Amino acid sequence: MRITITRPDDWHLHVRDGDVLAHVLAHTARRFARAIIMPNLSPPVVHVADAHAYRERILAALPGDARFEPLMTLYLTDATSPNEIERAGDAEFVHAVKLYPAGATTNSASGVTDMAHVYNVLEKMQRIGLPLLVHGEVTAPEIDVFDREKAFIDGSLTRLADEFPALRIVFEHITTLEAVQFVREARAGIAATITCHHLLHSRNAMFVGGLRPHYYCLPVLKRETHRQALIEAATSGNPRFFLGTDSAPHARQAKENACGCAGVYTAHAGIELYTEVFETAAALDKLQAFSSEHGADFYRVPRNHDTLTLERRSWSVPASYPFGDATVQPLRAGESVNWQIVETG
Ligand code: DOR
Ligand code: ZN
Repeated sequence: MRITITRPDDWHLHVRDGDVLAHVLAHTARRFARAIIMPNLSPPVVHVADAHAYRERILAALPGDARFEPLMTLYLTDATSPNEIERAGDAEFVHAVKLYPAGATTNSASGVTDMAHVYNVLEKMQRIGLPLLVHGEVTAPEIDVFDREKAFIDGSLTRLADEFPALRIVFEHITTLEAVQFVREARAGIAATITCHHLLHSRNAMFVGGLRPHYYCLPVLKRETHRQALIEAATSGNPRFFLGTDSAPHARQAKENACGCAGVYTAHAGIELYTEVFETAAALDKLQAFSSEHGADFYRVPRNHDTLTLERRSWSVPASYPFGDATVQPLRAGESVNWQIVETG
């Protein structure tokens, strides 16, 4: 069986920097026409000039035959100025601003400590139409790690959406039924990305026969009822939900560690894994809208014209891929994926 879809885009991606960049970028560029590039480098991408330089490094690291456009983002800090936002709005390669609550995840130490510090910046973004991408988890250590997304909706996001009624917001990598409900019922201009690992796995995956660090990510995998709600949302045809892999590579040693890093590497099979999910849900007819239409429409960029054909033929995923001088263990390492790309056109 074969399926041909408009070439997809990845609306949430970590490609890192330096000697690992070319390794991980090749996987994405083979599948996706464009990707929203996360700014959580160390140091983070806080200025338009940083985003410009990072974009140049990405373009230089692409394989020679690649057709791929990185869509850059800025990292919001307490010190971001409305003037910088104005410049971002004028720079055609900057497509959004990312909000990490300080301490929420990898390289989020420079994130926002109090929403009050960024109100003037959000006002400016609202005025010029620059989307805000939100890592939606509270950071308070007393809040249970599995409740942090819901607590963020109740404590911050609902208010943010009300106080900035024209601000376009992407609730990134949603993981819960509550997030699905929030996005479905929210005012216009609110959308969400969903990762393939949250569609494929519940939190049980982290504990099969022992502790499985390669399934650890943030927001952490949730219980099965939440996974079912995510599948329902992704395959519903609702334009508020679209593809964002959140592929987040870390060197094997950084994951298999007494304090392992959060992140699942999925760029090597970014569209194939979603295709499995849609097939299992008997919703292959909804895959193109989720992966190639809703995101482009939300970001107000043209849909892609080229296509990608997948065939239902399984292939073996290597145990690891090169990652600079180290290696990265991908999702399904040493196992198989049921779909493979046979043609791009
Ligand atoms: O699992 C994650 N990894 N979640 C994030 O929010 C950040 C990401 C990373 O950069 O490694
Ligand atoms: Zn991410």
